[in-house]
Amino acid sequence: MADDYLATGFRNVDDSDDFETFSRCLTLLDSLEYYREYKKRTYRLLELRDGERILDAGCGLGNDLYRMAELIAPRGEAVGVDASRRFLDAARTDPRFSSLPVRFVQANLRKLPFADETFTRIRIDRVLQHIPLPEEVVAELTRVLSSGGIFLTYDNDWSDFHIHSDGDSSVTKSIEKHWTDSFANPSIGTELPKLFQMCNLGEIRIDPLQSVIEDFPTADAVYNITATLTQLIRNGTIEESVARDWIDTARTGIFRVTLNSYIVTGRK
Ligand SMILES: C[S@@+](CC[C@H](N)C(=O)[O-])C[C@H]1O[C@@H](n2cnc3c(N)ncnc32)[C@H](O)[C@@H]1O
Repeated sequence: MADDYLATGFRNVDDSDDFETFSRCLTLLDSLEYYREYKKRTYRLLELRDGERILDAGCGLGNDLYRMAELIAPRGEAVGVDASRRFLDAARTDPRFSSLPVRFVQANLRKLPFADETFTRIRIDRVLQHIPLPEEVVAELTRVLSSGGIFLTYDNDWSDFHIHSDGDSSVTKSIEKHWTDSFANPSIGTELPKLFQMCNLGEIRIDPLQSVIEDFPTADAVYNITATLTQLIRNGTIEESVARDWIDTARTGIFRVTLNSYIVTGRK
């Protein structure tokens, strides 16, 4: 079934009639300063050096893989895994990768086609929020990580997602709740340390981060606010005229969206 709502559609991008929506979203996020900065921090925390074998789980268009491959070349290897054939097709034809030690593999993260201890570094960025039974994925990724290797995740805590606006507060609350409830794992950011402990990963380090977006068009592109309102109108929660007023106020008045997220690292 077609699903181009960002909170749910990333579970199965290839089922969507509108691949461009997802591709555009990843490209936009990758261009924003907050994302650039936290991603750089993840590469540093992974202690990437020439020769590492890194797996980027749920690599999307491969933007992180590209930057990490430059750090582990020429002797290392960077492998990008994703469930979406369409993301991988786009990445495989991307000329940025032509001279880098990079490989793309289509697979579900719950069952990876790699032997135990294949990789020295594992990275998974904003993927577990979309996956039912994330503990199975963390266990499978731990299986393919070598002893002494570093496992890094970045994910969101949607229970700490807040829209600050002068618009009708009941509409604001409905938007926050509908968007948040649409994720498979809305509180995954805070659950990561427990998942790491369950897999016997040690040296667990937690880095809390907060993103702030202060203009409506960017927040709308990142958090699908208009699409959320459309769903709320369709299911009878709010009226169209009320939604229109709310957007007008968000565009012109005080507006800010904050979200807490975490980088969690551990060692096998
Ligand atoms: C929000 S995107 C993040 C992409 C990338 N990590 C980034 O930071 O740009 C989530 C990615 O996870 C992939 N994905 C979702 N569920 C998956 C699964 N069960 N197995 C493999 N990939 C999956 C999606 O296809 C998508 O590329």
